[in-house]
This record gives sequence, C-alpha cells and structure tokens, in this order.
Amino acid sequence: MNHTISFTVNGIEKQVPVRNADTLLHVLREQLGLTGTKAGCQNGDCGSCTVLVNDMPLNACHMLAVEAKDKRITTIEGFQYSPIQEKFIQNWAIQCGYCTPGFVLNCHALIEQCPNADEAMIDEWLDSNICRCTGYEEIKQSVQEVLQWRKTGEIN
Ligand code: FES
Ligand code: FES
Repeated sequence: MNHTISFTVNGIEKQVPVRNADTLLHVLREQLGLTGTKAGCQNGDCGSCTVLVNDMPLNACHMLAVEAKDKRITTIEGFQYSPIQEKFIQNWAIQCGYCTPGFVLNCHALIEQCPNADEAMIDEWLDSNICRCTGYEEIKQSVQEVLQWRKTGEIN
C-alpha cells in the first residue's frame, strides 16, 4: 500500500509516496536522489547510512520511511563547510570516503549534544560507525579539535 508522507529534508518540505516496507534509506537514495547517504550493510551494523532525524543520528536503513512523517531529516547534502568537515579534510580523516557522510553527521551530533565529551565518550559514541580504510584516530582527533575550538575559540 502506498502512503504519501510529508517530511522536511535539508530544510525543504517534501511529499513522497512510500510503501509500508520502504526504509528511509531507500526513499532518500532512490526517490529523492540523495545518494550521499550510503547503503553499506543495510543491517544496522556499519553506520554508513547515518542521517539526523530531528537532530538525532539514526541509521536510515533501520527506520521505515513512514516513521519519518513530519520529521526533520538532515543528510550530508544539507551540510556545507561545517567545522567537522573542515577538520576531516585538514586531518586526512578520509580515504575512500564511503563511511564519511555517516561519520560527519554522527560527529556533528556528538559535538552539538556533548560539548564536554571526553575521549571515552567519543570512543563510545563513534562505536556505531565502521571505517574500513582509515585508522579511527584522525576522525577522533577531528572531533576533539572542534570541541576544543568551541570551548576556547582557538582553532589549530
Ligand atoms: S547501511 Fe545502515 S547501518 Fe549499515
Ligand atoms: S574512508 Fe573508506 S570506509 Fe572509511
């Protein structure tokens, strides 16, 4: 059965016909063309499909599109030149880039929600995302540097 749902994606209101079993990941990629959200495991294990739903990072492969009704979705296409993206580039926290959109959105949520996050919390928070290429150190360093900048106003 098809439903037409309304939600906001990257600040733009959308009305999209969806089937009961369509995941949010499917709708974002196949119907809205937002392929920055990556389909990795499609099983809730890798975090490559992370998007922000009302500012909370969630796996789009584990959310039905109908659950997104009236919610605010942010994908990587809605981000431009955020401090964490700049730090990823500066610190070479990217290799193939497949995991990067999910990491950027999850790191951004961490920075916004836990401005005093210590190393243990950063480790735990980012545990939901897998990268097959880089070490994780450059990614964590990027988070720490943005947190430091937020606190002191000093950027490396
Ligand atoms: S594709 Fe969603 S968690 Fe891997
Ligand atoms: S940069 Fe390739 S999977 Fe993370």
